[in-house]
Amino acid sequence: MNKKIIIAIDGFSSTGKSTVAKQLAAALRYIYVDSGAMYRAVTFYALENDLIGVDFFYKDQLIKHLERIRISFKFNAELGFAEVYLNGQNIENEIRTLRVSNFVSKIAEISEVRKKLVEQQQEMGKEKGIVMDGRDIGTVVFPEAELKIFMTASAETRAKRRLEELQNKGQEVNYQEVLKNIEERDFIDTNRDDSPLAQAEDAVLFDNSNLSREEQFNLLLAICKKAIQKAL
Ligand code: CDP
Ligand code: CDP
Repeated sequence: MNKKIIIAIDGFSSTGKSTVAKQLAAALRYIYVDSGAMYRAVTFYALENDLIGVDFFYKDQLIKHLERIRISFKFNAELGFAEVYLNGQNIENEIRTLRVSNFVSKIAEISEVRKKLVEQQQEMGKEKGIVMDGRDIGTVVFPEAELKIFMTASAETRAKRRLEELQNKGQEVNYQEVLKNIEERDFIDTNRDDSPLAQAEDAVLFDNSNLSREEQFNLLLAICKKAIQKAL
């Protein structure tokens, strides 16, 4: 019988974490959790409830609202992954806009927000058999994860990939604004006080600048299978 492990995937924005995490979870019959979607959901809530202005947000107000924010995931068999819900409403598309991306890293700096989301993430991983991607999964959420992967790629490659994705979804964005958002988020995520983005000491560093989605999946699946074998 296969022993189930925890696979933690961290890294910079738009490195292909969620793409490969979904593929790995499907191949291994594991649960996939997009932890970034949870920070995006809190940001979406703040925007919808006027807790974010042009260049500021009401931090204390948002902290007071936290108990009203209920985030859940529901598997969509057609899509093959779980979509994110905020207080019962499917917000999978709403959280992927540049508007949410432009605020999310500021919201993710708030320790009270992180505490609430990390607790929920740890609960979801209790039974193992999970692939979770984010920024602090191998360092804070699951420091004992059997396999940790740290993804990286050049900022230009990442911006091109994200631009193509957003344009395919019909969003009107240009290369410069996408690149600017990626670089700003990388900076905030890496330099914040609480749970900054960092490669765990025992993480496998994986640069996919020159790899296709298929190549990266095949290489990482082999690494996962080895880790599962080792855990037996
Ligand atoms: O997919 P993308 O790289 O654009 O970002 P994401 O995974 O959706 O995460 C959005 C933002 O949430 C990140 O830029 C971080 O600021 C924050 N985040 C975090 O702080 N910790 C996590 N475990 C996941 C995301
Ligand atoms: O989750 P994260 O922000 O790290 O990235 P993603 O949303 O999985 O990937 C960002 C974009 O890059 C998506 O459109 C992927 O399909 C694409 N991608 C790619 O073209 N080649 C890769 N090797 C990995 C991702």
